[in-house]
Amino acid sequence: MGAGSVEKALVLYDSKYGNTKTVAEKIAESINTKGDFETNVSHLEGFDVKKIEGYDLVLIGSPNHFGRDSKKTKKFITNLGGVNLSGKKFAFFDTCLKRQEGRATGKMEKRIQSVAPDVQVISPGLSILVGGTKGPITEGEIVKCDEFADRVVRR
Ligand SMILES: Cc1cc2nc3c(=O)[nH]c(=O)nc-3n(C[C@H](O)[C@H](O)[C@H](O)COP(=O)(O)O)c2cc1C
Repeated sequence: MGAGSVEKALVLYDSKYGNTKTVAEKIAESINTKGDFETNVSHLEGFDVKKIEGYDLVLIGSPNHFGRDSKKTKKFITNLGGVNLSGKKFAFFDTCLKRQEGRATGKMEKRIQSVAPDVQVISPGLSILVGGTKGPITEGEIVKCDEFADRVVRR
């Protein structure tokens, strides 16, 4: 991107109890404080995958359900195989209980690379711990959203 141009970022999430939504909003807010980014946030259900063509950076988040991303997230990522995502930058995040860090993001990364091998996964996944199935987000975790935003905007 040339000097002065605005990059477009999209943060998509699934969320049953609202914790992953909170994380998505926090990441978007952080990205917007870091430079020339214009960031939109949306639930992934019903999001028209063709609209992704208008974004440079796409972040997708899911609650960890049974050690993987949610069914809705899985379906959404699988559907991305039908869109031209060449050269787009992706990264993934999840919310989970202890000891599940990276499990769901790892599944999402593998899936996108199998349906759309020409995308770039630009950062390791972010896992935000929650205290129970309905939350809340564990103390000290939300700051990691800012570090994640930092990593993705630098790439
Ligand atoms: C059906 C179901 C299965 C779950 N399985 C796991 C699991 O295997 N490992 C884990 O760490 N958390 C598991 N959880 C807890 C979720 O990670 C937690 O509900 C989620 O982070 C909350 O995010 P949300 O508020 O965005 O829905 C499960 C939750 C549900 C509802």
